[in-house]
Amino acid sequence: MKAVIPVAGLGTRMLPASKACSKELLPIIDRPVLHLLVEELYEAGIREVIFVVGKNKKALQNYFKVDPSLEAVLQSKGQSKVLASLKKLNTKMKFEYVEQKQPLGDGDAVLCAHKFVKDEAFLVIFGDDLIDAAVSCSKQLIAAYKKYRMPVIALERVPREDISKYGIVGGASFAKRFYKLDCFVEKPLPENAPSDLAIVGKYLITPILLKLLKEMAGQKKGELRLIDAFHAMAHNKLPVIGMEFTGQRFDTGNKLGYVKAIMHYAMKDPELAAELKKYLRDKEF
Ligand code: UTP
Repeated sequence: MKAVIPVAGLGTRMLPASKACSKELLPIIDRPVLHLLVEELYEAGIREVIFVVGKNKKALQNYFKVDPSLEAVLQSKGQSKVLASLKKLNTKMKFEYVEQKQPLGDGDAVLCAHKFVKDEAFLVIFGDDLIDAAVSCSKQLIAAYKKYRMPVIALERVPREDISKYGIVGGASFAKRFYKLDCFVEKPLPENAPSDLAIVGKYLITPILLKLLKEMAGQKKGELRLIDAFHAMAHNKLPVIGMEFTGQRFDTGNKLGYVKAIMHYAMKDPELAAELKKYLRDKEF
């Protein structure tokens, strides 16, 4: 299976940092968000990744390119851990790049990758949503697809005050953590929302869904969102599955989510955790 990572958004919530460097390349300590996401895909068995890129594509292409001179330096300095981490991704995975000329929405971005995914089911993971989990969310989505053979959306319960920031779904539960979805509403007021289950940036997309998206692109002016295609699926009585993933999610596309992600991963790092805890305890903010 292939994976598509759209990284062509404007990232306005992370400006000015995202002006020169796309927000997906901002580091979580020493690894860019995208590095962690690509590692997640690797662990899930994915070997081909299609990046949908915008104007900051050069830095991203350089990051995932083999750099023999840097590798030689790492080798000579005995930095084998960093070297292995880079090599695994740079040599064992295939990366393709396709340009989204204008940021016309996440649905439009996914459509840009059409020629690479052809008529197969594929994963879409947004470049700013990190989930730390014992079994990665990508693996959970693939397992659900293998079982049900239907499109799958990763879902998270959100507090009432956050409902209007997300696409919210409605549907009936048919197994623990699984829902047959029939309603998709973009950023509803809490009183109009079908549930508190929010769509997060990880999906398993099937050819029929991509076909609907394509049809809509021909009809629609302005932004094209993935949620529009899911809405069309429901309208055509086609099945879509929602999966409440297990794990902890960080939206690294906003300042607070980004800082939380750094804190989370720092506290998991034995080299940093003790000193950082001490610093936070002793310092008066
Ligand atoms: P976001 O919803 O976070 O949008 O996109 P954004 O435009 O990047 O950020 P803000 O709201 O201005 O701060 C979710 C994912 O989809 C990609 C983004 O790069 C991000 O990884 N995306 C979004 C595209 O690739 N193209 C688009 O047209 C929109």
